[in-house]
Amino acid sequence: MPVITFANTKGGAGKTTAVLLVACELSRMGFSVVVLDADPQHWISRWYEMSAAARPQTLSVVSYVTTATIDQHVRQARARADFVLVDLPGARSSLLAQTMGYSDYVLIPVQGSAMDAQGGAHVIELLQYLEERADIRIPHSVVLTRVNSMVTTRALQAVKDLLSQRRVHVLDTPIIERSAYRDVFGSGDTLYSMDPRRVSNLDRAQENSRTLAMEVLRRVLVLQGLAERDVLETLKRVA
Ligand SMILES: Nc1ncnc2c1ncn2[C@@H]1O[C@H](COP(=O)(O)OP(=O)(O)OP(=O)(O)O)[C@@H](O)[C@H]1O
Ligand SMILES: [Mg+2]
Repeated sequence: MPVITFANTKGGAGKTTAVLLVACELSRMGFSVVVLDADPQHWISRWYEMSAAARPQTLSVVSYVTTATIDQHVRQARARADFVLVDLPGARSSLLAQTMGYSDYVLIPVQGSAMDAQGGAHVIELLQYLEERADIRIPHSVVLTRVNSMVTTRALQAVKDLLSQRRVHVLDTPIIERSAYRDVFGSGDTLYSMDPRRVSNLDRAQENSRTLAMEVLRRVLVLQGLAERDVLETLKRVA
């Protein structure tokens, strides 16, 4: 089933955080989800080991995914899961081009800073190169990350302008800067097992994460060629 890859060659852009949010939400909706963890920091694998009591049962993680093994992992995961999510390293590596080839949709998390926009641009250039030279079109969107919930900063506006000049699709839902998104990794919790009295704005974090996953799901279903009516029905069923 569809492979959604999260890529940005700039480290710390928010890839791993975005993968975990989308993976947990899609699983909560009742889909089976496999995360292929190719991030050398293994945050999601570590979280998975700690989260046995909290995590959705339809979520599983494959650790230590490398250039040598990804081919086999993607094949196996596709066969057993509704969605396969890939968390890539935050550096230029041969895994990037290799994984693009398997991907049905690429999400490029970009922080509202110029440096990050450059890391994102590298992924976009690779996708454009594949389209122009090899006629391989891989649908992709930028997802803005670590966005301040209160203000639209000038740096964020500059990133948005740059992307619109390049005609790159940007998801409507940005990932807001929330302490809950950091805390889940340390505690092995999910946004739904945390104590709302101890985590600030947990309800807003849940809402942001759900809205993001719904938008990703809608785009993937449309890309899969589902009719508008069936897309709406699926979204209503899982809401
Ligand atoms: N929306 C957010 N709100 C709060 N903290 C965030 C958010 N997104 C990311 N972070 C924090 O920023 C840091 C980097 O995020 P993350 O690990 O998701 O990035 P990455 O792109 O996967 O990094 P790498 O390239 O090193 O794999 C982490 O400490 C994470 O907790
Ligand atoms: Mg990461």
